[in-house]
Amino acid sequence: MKSIQELENDFIINTYNRQPGLTPCLVRGEGSYVWDDQGKKYLDLLGGLAVNVVGHCHPQVVEAICRQASLLSHTSNLYYSGPQAELASELVGSTGKAGKVFFANSGAEANEAALKLVRKHRAGRYKVITAERSFHGRTFAALAATGQEKYRKAFEPLVEGFSYATFNDLASFEKLVDHQTAAIMIEPIQGEGGIYPAEPSFIAGLRQLCNSEGVLLIFDEVQCGVGRTGKLWAFEHWEVSPDLFTAAKGLGGGLPLSALIVAQPYADLFVPGDHASTFGGNPVASAAALAVLNILNEEGFLAEVSAKGEKLKKDCEALQEQYPALIKEFRGLGLICALELYQPLAKEIQEKCTAAGLLINAVGETILRFLPPLTVSEKELHEGLEILSEIVFETIS
Ligand SMILES: Cc1ncc(COP(=O)(O)O)c(C=O)c1O
Repeated sequence: MKSIQELENDFIINTYNRQPGLTPCLVRGEGSYVWDDQGKKYLDLLGGLAVNVVGHCHPQVVEAICRQASLLSHTSNLYYSGPQAELASELVGSTGKAGKVFFANSGAEANEAALKLVRKHRAGRYKVITAERSFHGRTFAALAATGQEKYRKAFEPLVEGFSYATFNDLASFEKLVDHQTAAIMIEPIQGEGGIYPAEPSFIAGLRQLCNSEGVLLIFDEVQCGVGRTGKLWAFEHWEVSPDLFTAAKGLGGGLPLSALIVAQPYADLFVPGDHASTFGGNPVASAAALAVLNILNEEGFLAEVSAKGEKLKKDCEALQEQYPALIKEFRGLGLICALELYQPLAKEIQEKCTAAGLLINAVGETILRFLPPLTVSEKELHEGLEILSEIVFETIS
């Protein structure tokens, strides 16, 4: 019989670079831990890349999934669906403003929907300004929106009309706005780019710029949303509201689900036939999302995320003090954070951490990223930092 690694090698297109002997084959999860097929346990401070917001196999999410799967696991979007309608109402309610939702299955798809919708706002306006170092997904418009040439280069020509300004530099956005600009799109905290939070004056300035130019403001909260920063939506930290925002990753508690949330008066720009998704807002995924939101809305939950984020920051800064020649800085907000290194050792450290039973992630050559479940305990965060500290010591000694 072939091993999983052999089957993968023979039959799966190699886009993820999983390495036999280095990459574990995960078979089970509970809370902040996962286990591989050899029975080895890992502390998961990567949380399925920001997906497992309430940890692995949270009983309320498992119960919601099982209950809905045993009732009706799918209905086409030609029909009404209770979980989807309820979830839309929760999502809009969470913004405190009037609006409506379009459901899809992934971050890229939610962004595609946003990028299509803004073209219907004002005739002749089709251009979108995004930020350098941004990441918005791998489908064609989302890829065109992504401000990193390395992802786009091999796939040109891309969708027309995208340009890239400098994150946190308002003047660079102002320069690019013209009478054909439909929208400005940013991640309030750049994730794949290496965890860079927006400055308050920048994000407030973008809002003003969009208002004065009649341009729509889109926030991509695919990675930084769903409670990760200690508020349900990251933009709440800046008290600036977008016209449209997207959420995915953590929304479905591990099931594929994404949402484009559109404020009035833009929520009726799409009309029947303009856009659709076979699986978008699937009843099981929507039921899981309702369970996730219930947990996040429990009293004190989000305040605890902030407190744990502070603890992780302190532990990271202590590590920086211990290794000032290696660790350049800590960046982040709540439980989306990173350590930047002076030397290109992030991959090596990530691999050694995996071998030592800790899952974190290297972004490029110099950045180590943490996206733990929001249910992680302070003790687990401390345990993770102890392992990382040992690995750092071993790597530079
Ligand atoms: C900010 C942001 N937008 C969009 C995406 C794409 O999401 P998906 O992989 O679900 O299409 C990602 C994925 O990492 C992301 O971080």
